Amino acid sequence: MLAVPRHRFVSEAPLRIAYADDVYVTKRNSDGEPVSSASQPAIVAEMLEQLDVRPGHRVLEIGAGTGYNAALLDALVGPEGAVTTVDIDAETAGRARRALEEVGSGRVRVVQGDGELGFVDDAPYDRIIATVGTWDLPPAWWDQLAEGGRLVAPLSIRGCEHSVAFDYSDGAMRSRSIVSCGFMPMRGLGSQEGQAVELSEGRIMTFHVEHEVEADGVRGVLDGRGTTVWTPVQLKVNDDATQLSLWLACAFAGYGRMSAPFGDHGLQRLLLRWANPAVVEGEDFAYLVCRRTGGGIEIGVRGHGPHGPALAARVAEEVRVWDRECRDGVSLQITAYRKGTGPEVEPRFTVPKRHTRLAIEVAFEGNGFE
Ligand SMILES: C[S@@+](CC[C@H](N)C(=O)[O-])C[C@H]1O[C@@H](n2cnc3c(N)ncnc32)[C@H](O)[C@@H]1O
Repeated sequence: MLAVPRHRFVSEAPLRIAYADDVYVTKRNSDGEPVSSASQPAIVAEMLEQLDVRPGHRVLEIGAGTGYNAALLDALVGPEGAVTTVDIDAETAGRARRALEEVGSGRVRVVQGDGELGFVDDAPYDRIIATVGTWDLPPAWWDQLAEGGRLVAPLSIRGCEHSVAFDYSDGAMRSRSIVSCGFMPMRGLGSQEGQAVELSEGRIMTFHVEHEVEADGVRGVLDGRGTTVWTPVQLKVNDDATQLSLWLACAFAGYGRMSAPFGDHGLQRLLLRWANPAVVEGEDFAYLVCRRTGGGIEIGVRGHGPHGPALAARVAEEVRVWDRECRDGVSLQITAYRKGTGPEVEPRFTVPKRHTRLAIEVAFEGNGFE
């Protein structure tokens, strides 16, 4: 990272901002939402570690943005390697191309196009990295990644996003590492709109869930009575709550994220203020809450709706299973298969996508998971 001057890719930012460990937004749409940025350096570095780029590699990046990450990739592959980066937005691609030329990385090929289709002219690639949130692993990425290659992508499972490093061999992508992250979603062919439901009239409290989930029944559900089931699982100081989120996202098809951006909702404290894990089933709704105890923070589940207490009890049971099976370095392993392929045996969790099927297991030591 010392080799690439980040300020040359965000030239409108003062130096102090250009070198802060923060995302820098470079473009917004007409609603003011960010559509292009230089990602936070910490996650850039972490994803490059996941990608394990070597000199001589051929690399494809989806989401050129400012061109900064492409310049880092160019430094990593060296003169024997090659980097291609794709951005859906012509203006952004032009900006990245100019910045790359100015810092001496003009060898990087910048393409304007939809990254869902990869870029077939420079394939096969030893490495593919997406720096934009993706919901699926589209066919082009499978076709254009070399056997034995690695793909790193911010993959959303029911709205729970993690940067997953996959190794590709024998027709399967097997995860090597999973890092929590938050990226702007992919536009174009691979875009996947979710739905937002207002949970309580008058209070800004929304629930984001996948499009095909029947969620209308929970509109206003928090205005009725609720019941809390305490687990009594404790969240310790160094615990990564996003691991629990991922577990619940795998376990419940109606998983989604609730957010109370203007503070708590006056009932119980949410476990996470943003993207708090929640589950909808018909008219029932359950979500994670917490309370302080002597030992730390105890996780509870609050249920609303006609069968809210039963749904809360089932979610609480999964929190306990996660606590038993998935703590202290034990993690989940995600294996992706193209639709219609892969073994018949049912994994612990299955998450179907448009082009792929994700099979998710608890990763035990020694099975190749980092
Ligand atoms: C977070 S930025 C990428 C940051 C970039 N890697 C850098 O170093 O500055 C995400 C980029 O993905 C682009 N994007 C969104 N959908 C895309 C798609 N379908 N194909 C290619 N690029 C896409 C956006 O235009 C945006 O520039």
